[in-house]
Amino acid sequence: MGTIKLIICKNENEISDLASKIIVDLVNNKKKSNLGLATGNSPIGTYKKIIEKYNNCEVCLKHVRTFNLDEYLDLKKDDFKNSYEYYMDENLFSKTDIRKKRTFFPTMLGNKPNNDYSKFEDKIKKYGKIDIQLLGLGTNGHIGFNEPGSAIDTRTRIVDLAQSTIDSNSRYFKSKEDVPKRAVSMGLGTILEAEKILLIAFGKEKSEAIKNFFSKEEFHEDLPMSALWNHKNVYIIIDEKAASKINKDKLSNFLIENE
Ligand code: F6R
Repeated sequence: MGTIKLIICKNENEISDLASKIIVDLVNNKKKSNLGLATGNSPIGTYKKIIEKYNNCEVCLKHVRTFNLDEYLDLKKDDFKNSYEYYMDENLFSKTDIRKKRTFFPTMLGNKPNNDYSKFEDKIKKYGKIDIQLLGLGTNGHIGFNEPGSAIDTRTRIVDLAQSTIDSNSRYFKSKEDVPKRAVSMGLGTILEAEKILLIAFGKEKSEAIKNFFSKEEFHEDLPMSALWNHKNVYIIIDEKAASKINKDKLSNFLIENE
């Protein structure tokens, strides 16, 4: 059984502060760090704070390698702005000294398009392992695009997105028809091989998944996040709203202070 450390922050800003500090401290201790990164709304503040620290010369990122969790498939040709590659360029890469050739997505290895997903996994192995994997959380409990029903040992592969994920992603697209229904995602097995995992989540929409996670302390396929019970070094960093439904008796077993 793994060890879960729960940190409840006041708000998104405090979550971003803490997550960015953990990532920057790692890079300052190990300049060739392997960072596992996520997209979506949750990590935007964390990336902003990493950029701030970079601008203040508090960190140098030019030797890090980055491995993104996932990428859409079937995006329309003129819809590159909705790709996760574009998101990462906009929200982090182009604003720091991270080198494009050291950024890896399941569908893009450095500057080379890729559709052999085992090669993405090989890249991770080539550089050792992911030192820190940053995760957001779907309202349905997904991590990466491992939707409910994903097996614990899944690897990077093509996945069908759940309808709730498609609906939630539609806020970024012009019309509902444009929202991709498939993606490529690191598997739960891939994620669990990271040295350390930081899951960040805020807002009451995430509270049900968080409650379910703490209600059954083992992996069950209908809640992909519960795979984290099989990992030894997981930090769950959430705000008070996302934590609001956790059974109070459970809290003291996992809660640690944010020093
Ligand atoms: C994104 C990803 C997804 C998101 C999740 C939460 O790379 O893998 O699992 O982290 O859907 O999305 P937000 O942060 O937009 O609520």
